[in-house]
Amino acid sequence: MSDGFVVRTDREAVDVDLVHHWLSTESYWAAGIPRDTVARAIANSLCFTGLLDGRQVAFARVISDFATFAYLADVFVLDEVRGRGYATQLMDAVFVHSDLQGLRRFMLATRDAHALYARYDFTSPAKPASLMERYAPDIYRSA
Ligand SMILES: CC(C)(COP(=O)(O)OP(=O)(O)OC[C@H]1O[C@@H](n2cnc3c(N)ncnc32)[C@H](O)[C@@H]1OP(=O)(O)O)[C@@H](O)C(=O)NCCC(=O)NCCS
Repeated sequence: MSDGFVVRTDREAVDVDLVHHWLSTESYWAAGIPRDTVARAIANSLCFTGLLDGRQVAFARVISDFATFAYLADVFVLDEVRGRGYATQLMDAVFVHSDLQGLRRFMLATRDAHALYARYDFTSPAKPASLMERYAPDIYRSA
């Protein structure tokens, strides 16, 4: 598909204000997140920016040691351009990226997009009882 949608991984491609606005007002996982927290997360992640005719319409970032482990976070496509395969193109770019090959574990959390990630061999954890987390879902609301 080449309708003007491209994926870039350089930091300069990221529209930090757009990502912050979407995450803080539209996401179900990071409502109220401060802009400087988003900027720090972007600076320390491998970011995948989906551009449509030069304007950012999609985003995902990967937190990784680029050797053994990675975590996929903050995946979104702007509402007005959903259903055109852009999330699929974004995920294709993530999972073929040369720095993200041969990892022992790749993780993510999702409320309802399991089908999107199942295409890339993601499953529910085989041994959920072995996983632990320290989770503060309301951390941005209470700040
Ligand atoms: C999920 C999301 C990124 C999909 O973007 P999109 O560009 O519409 O996705 P695509 O057009 O590439 O299609 C994705 C495929 O995954 C499927 N899918 C699975 N879960 C989905 C979900 N929650 N929302 C949309 N599509 C979903 C679609 O049905 C589609 O399958 P199809 O090609 O067989 O029809 C987008 O709906 C979004 O930004 N949602 C809000 C944020 C979100 O939930 N992000 C994921 C957090 S883990």
